[in-house]
Amino acid sequence: MQELLSKRALNIAESATLKMSRLAQELRAEGHDVISLSLGEPDFDTPDYIKDAATQALHDGYTKYTPVPGLPELRSAICSKFSRENGLDYSPDQIVVSNGAKQTISNLAMALLNPGDEVILFTPYWVSYFDIVRVAEGVPIAVSAEINQDYKVRPEQLSNAITDRTKYVIFSSPCNPTGSVYSEEELLALSQVILSHEKLLVVSDEIYEYINFSGKHYSIANCPGMQERTIVVNGFSKGFAMTGWRLGYMAAPVWLAKACSKIQSQCTSGATAFGQKAAVTALEGERGPTRHMCDTYKKRKKLVRDRLNAIPGIKANDPDGAFYIFPDISYYLGKSSHNQRIENSDDLALYLLEYAHVATVSGSAFGNPKCIRISFAASDEQLIKALDQIESALSKLN
Ligand SMILES: Cc1ncc(COP(=O)(O)O)c(C=O)c1O
Repeated sequence: MQELLSKRALNIAESATLKMSRLAQELRAEGHDVISLSLGEPDFDTPDYIKDAATQALHDGYTKYTPVPGLPELRSAICSKFSRENGLDYSPDQIVVSNGAKQTISNLAMALLNPGDEVILFTPYWVSYFDIVRVAEGVPIAVSAEINQDYKVRPEQLSNAITDRTKYVIFSSPCNPTGSVYSEEELLALSQVILSHEKLLVVSDEIYEYINFSGKHYSIANCPGMQERTIVVNGFSKGFAMTGWRLGYMAAPVWLAKACSKIQSQCTSGATAFGQKAAVTALEGERGPTRHMCDTYKKRKKLVRDRLNAIPGIKANDPDGAFYIFPDISYYLGKSSHNQRIENSDDLALYLLEYAHVATVSGSAFGNPKCIRISFAASDEQLIKALDQIESALSKLN
């Protein structure tokens, strides 16, 4: 009966991060102690003040359907956040709240792409951008930035990739999987390229906004002339440790917000009522827990980076945000151990899972087969143990 499946379903890949965690679980079921550094999930729990707000909302009767683009009080809290923290003015009809930023990004692809339309992905890209574009029958165009440019795309690279089929450009800053953060100057230079094309949009994924070690967060929407051309995507999963709540949002021109809301109305409707009430509290409440999480990630970044750079052949980048590091492991390609030859980053990630019992994600899932992604959303103890085991497994490759 498999032939009943659509080309759409057959053409997309299982999310590489979820696949790795499934393989890790299988090893665990066999009795192995596997350390998982593969998922993009904070190891912190949601702060209590946010949980309390959700409980209160449940008691207050927030148990019903919500307006598709979000509760009015959340949309207005999001507008206040943009104005207060980002210097960007939006009206509530420009905001659409979704069941996670992933749905926001998917709504955008469905709303903007006709078959064959191109989307430029700054590469390394977040794993789902690629397949979301394909589900919407668009064509993902990878523009690659290497470690020697801190994995950040240069304006001339962007310019060379634009064609008359390009609908939008998508990138995250702070970036998953590299942790790179585009500076104000870099964003300005990129915005010049965008603005030189009359009908080109940018989807700026800022979900790691609050996990920034370099100080202030800049959005490409802040660059002169860019607010009308930019869709800012954000959410609660990372900065507030709310992955399971499934809450994301975007700010966009009204015509596009309306189209995304229409698409969402036929797919899932509005996000959970009591979650949205708690999200208002998250945005308006104290940011102590968020700052604490960011400070902790920053310390762990140093630990992981120092350890990685001490391993022969590994070149680790220096992430300025998020909770990932994206070391270049190409030194190990072509080496063998246990009768296994490492041809690419997929092989290396599987080798580390099997012989170091550490789950990472192959860089090929993010468009760069010379790297692996290591998440440091784990305790110091786990990170130290994982790095000991990685070092020992790599030393056996020759
Ligand atoms: C860059 C990026 N964008 C979007 C998402 C999706 O977030 P959400 O949990 O809000 O769907 C993630 C989650 O890993 C991410 O890393």
